[in-house]
Amino acid sequence: MSQTPAADIEPATRPKISFAGVNKFYGNNRARVATTLALDDFSLDIAPEEIVSIVGPTGCGKSTALNLLAGFEQPSSGGLVSVDGQAVAGPGPNRGVVFQQPSLFPWLTVLSNVVLGIKCRGVALDEYEPRALRLLEEVGLKGFERHYPYQLSGGMQQRVQIARALINEPDILLMDEPFGALDYQTRLLMQKLLLRLWAHFKPTILFITHDVGEAIFISDRVIAMTKRPGRVKCVLHVNAPKPRGYEFIGSPEFTRLEHDLVLAVQGEVEGDEVAAH
Ligand SMILES: Nc1ncnc2c1ncn2[C@@H]1O[C@H](COP(=O)(O)OP(=O)(O)OP(=O)(O)O)[C@@H](O)[C@H]1O
Ligand SMILES: [Mg+2]
Repeated sequence: MSQTPAADIEPATRPKISFAGVNKFYGNNRARVATTLALDDFSLDIAPEEIVSIVGPTGCGKSTALNLLAGFEQPSSGGLVSVDGQAVAGPGPNRGVVFQQPSLFPWLTVLSNVVLGIKCRGVALDEYEPRALRLLEEVGLKGFERHYPYQLSGGMQQRVQIARALINEPDILLMDEPFGALDYQTRLLMQKLLLRLWAHFKPTILFITHDVGEAIFISDRVIAMTKRPGRVKCVLHVNAPKPRGYEFIGSPEFTRLEHDLVLAVQGEVEGDEVAAH
């Protein structure tokens, strides 16, 4: 597998994000701690402005892949994770991250949570504050700027996390089961909100979920992973135009994709032969 960043590829055809033959194991043989091979030769290219979801059995390496791209982890041996043809060396403001559990500071207001990172980067108040207020309005939190996290519902806290991730105007948004803890109705609302924000900011999005319907509703492509060690098992293209409304859910294309994805994921959990019957 090539170790060379794709610097010689035309920008128009160059993937925004590239995982090329990535291996990741955890543990330490010298300390006699059992090693876990989380990703094995994981390869995936994502185009600029594309929305790609990853689904797969628990423990198959989805968060590991996202953490490598976020720069929280490094590949173990061989392989390369790159953005715009440059190897990822660590976290950066061009990649906003949203986690499953709201990770807001409880002693800071909504507004202070959103601006904390950008303030620390030395951006001027008169630049970041209007931007934060606009973003909070866009995610439906106008009027809640001075509230504290404990005064918000789970869905509202996730909206704050999204605003916080977007404040740096990142061109990549990394989302690890961001709506997993929300009720069904709120989750649908958040999926539509995400598509609206995408239409406005056009970030490239890597989205992890266990909900195959959610993956299909928001994505241009859905990647199903094998069980650990994780690799790409199959790729499904979702051709419905965006923005999408609820009429897409239950359409023949949606139903077909849902069926194929359930078989792909359950095939890893139960075995392909068993899942097909
Ligand atoms: N920091 C770590 N130290 C040791 N092992 C880890 C670490 N992070 C992940 N692992 C292991 O790597 C494998 C993949 O974990 P990962 O969190 O990427 O799975 P996942 O697909 O995100 O699962 P889930 O759907 O449950 O979130 C698992 O076996 C897990 O135990
Ligand atoms: Mg995970």
